[in-house]
Amino acid sequence: MKHQDYIYLSEDYYNKPKQIFSYLLDLLEQNLGSTPPPFFKSKKLLDIGCSRGEFLYFCKKSLKFDTNLLYGLDYSSNLIDEAIKFDGLKGVNFSVGSAENFNLNTQFDIVFMTGVLSYFDDVSDTIKCIDSHLSPNGIAIITGGFNDADVDLITRYRNNRYFNTFEPGWNMHSIHTIRKILKTYKLDIIDIKTFYLSFNSIPQEDPCRSWNIQTENGVKFTNGMSLLYDIRSLIIKRV
Ligand SMILES: C[S@@+](CC[C@H](N)C(=O)[O-])C[C@H]1O[C@@H](n2cnc3c(N)ncnc32)[C@H](O)[C@@H]1O
Repeated sequence: MKHQDYIYLSEDYYNKPKQIFSYLLDLLEQNLGSTPPPFFKSKKLLDIGCSRGEFLYFCKKSLKFDTNLLYGLDYSSNLIDEAIKFDGLKGVNFSVGSAENFNLNTQFDIVFMTGVLSYFDDVSDTIKCIDSHLSPNGIAIITGGFNDADVDLITRYRNNRYFNTFEPGWNMHSIHTIRKILKTYKLDIIDIKTFYLSFNSIPQEDPCRSWNIQTENGVKFTNGMSLLYDIRSLIIKRV
């Protein structure tokens, strides 16, 4: 079992979707112009690090995506097994594989990757995989914590109550570094958006579950790893 599986196996994000899911779909609609929702039906969409397919289920329910055009990839076979077992996701294409090294032999109009890039010390391989899976007019939306300063932060944490090894998952890569690598593939960040919760959240029993706090620089997320960060989305297209 992968170290973070315990969160996704215990939460019912199918029936209680995360608030960020609707923010992500709004972002997609804004960036696909004024084309009305039926347009989405014919688009091929990949969610990298899809967990149990909760966001894909949200896409299917909210915008009536065609399930055959939805793809999910995660390196946890436990999570993918659960996704495959879930009746609500019948017809969706799920694969077990690493975001740093996968080949689905197809290209996508839309690629989402949420809360995943922070697992990697070097983001080059993941960006290479995104490039090879993104269609010429495709859009990739990478969401997570990033550093505005040109400093790449690599972290390891051990959440003692849940596992006993030091694990990755909370790196904060410099947006500058990401942009530099994207440019080698003729990709670029065309916009950056910030996600805000619509309510005040509080610390939970698990110190690695983030909550929001008011700071003199606005509302930020924090957690038991002493991090203070924004959740932002990098909107990426070919240039
Ligand atoms: C923080 S969770 C986010 C899940 C989902 N994207 C969401 O936003 O609800 C990170 C996910 O990435 C997956 N993951 C971590 N490292 C991965 C890798 N190298 N390749 C593919 N998936 C990975 C984990 O199994 C987990 O499902």
